[in-house]
Amino acid sequence: MRAREIAGGIYRIGANITNGDLFEGMWAIPDGVSLNAYIVRGEKTALVDLIRDWDDAPMKIRDQLASISVDVKKIDYLILNHLEPDHTGWLGMFRDLCPGAEILTTVKGAALVKSFYGIEDGVRTVKTGDTLDLGAGKKLVFVEAPNVHWPETMLSYEPSAGVLFSCDAFGSYGSVGAELFDDELSAEGHAFFEKETLRYYANIVAGFSSFVEKAIAKLEGLEINIIAPSHGILWKENPRTIISRYLRYAAYAKGPAEPEVTLVWGSMYGNTEKLVEAATEGLKESAVPVHVFQTPHDDISRILAAAWKSTGLIFGMPTYEYKMFPPMAHVIDELGRKKIFGRKVFRFGSFGWSGGAAKDLAEITAKFNWTFIEQVEFSGCPGSADYELVKTRAKELAGIVKQSALQ
Ligand code: FEO
Repeated sequence: MRAREIAGGIYRIGANITNGDLFEGMWAIPDGVSLNAYIVRGEKTALVDLIRDWDDAPMKIRDQLASISVDVKKIDYLILNHLEPDHTGWLGMFRDLCPGAEILTTVKGAALVKSFYGIEDGVRTVKTGDTLDLGAGKKLVFVEAPNVHWPETMLSYEPSAGVLFSCDAFGSYGSVGAELFDDELSAEGHAFFEKETLRYYANIVAGFSSFVEKAIAKLEGLEINIIAPSHGILWKENPRTIISRYLRYAAYAKGPAEPEVTLVWGSMYGNTEKLVEAATEGLKESAVPVHVFQTPHDDISRILAAAWKSTGLIFGMPTYEYKMFPPMAHVIDELGRKKIFGRKVFRFGSFGWSGGAAKDLAEITAKFNWTFIEQVEFSGCPGSADYELVKTRAKELAGIVKQSALQ
């Protein structure tokens, strides 16, 4: 990867993380993730956001800085839009290399600079509307955007070129190749990043959706020519596309979402599994798309992405020791943590000597604002009547989903 000038005097530098690690220690990134940082050059030089010391990223960054004749020891300002260590993990080493660079961040950011890295000197706090004049017509304007993703987060904007450095906002999973901008991607590339943007949003940003809406409202009035996030591709041809996409994703938070269903199932001895097909048949006959996952086998990050955009949820799981099948309890817990609320829900499943999953599910999701249609439970092996009942209830759910989904 090479440094690339994205507007006059503004460069994107960065690294793809492809070593098989999990993002945030838990989310699969089989196609990698990019860490983007930016150089803004006036008479003074600012580095906007940093990287983590991860998968040889610092060496790559240093080589790229050298390729555009930026001496890392002579950077004047380091802008920290967000303190999560994927953007700051290299800060201690950077400070050693360049002790003279002044750090600009929010008040809450400064507290995290101290607690994560023990740095207090040379830190300037900024707030919405503050500017940093770099000379030669370049400046940075700061806009606080709390909780997109952490409370200290801000965005930086360069007005002469209309570049918005948005950090996590408008970001995506996925490594970035030579095709850096939206207008350089093939249709296949766009499809890939759309999918990975949704998964990134559902995993990282979903729980903060109301703050996403507030942050986007603050951008009204800014002439944005380029959106330059710290993960994923940059948007130049049509920045509105990614803004609209994020607004749509934020709207899913309270439900409804798209006219789709996510079906998650888990089975101990194959009895609950026997009715998965009944549910999918019912949905198919109702022409409602369904995303099917098995727990604990399938990746939770993908279950969250599908559930985030689905108005309907179906859970197929047995009772286990008077409660929900434990891997499904984990899925439900994750759905709650990401605030996937306001959904239309159906559950079916077997039990042995005693039920309990239905009650457990209802109690644990009592605050999720989920609307349940009647659950189907059976003892032991399901019969043909159970099959037909699950199919009928799946059709009922499909009808509700079609009626209530976002337009
Ligand atoms: Fe990319 Fe919240 O860090």
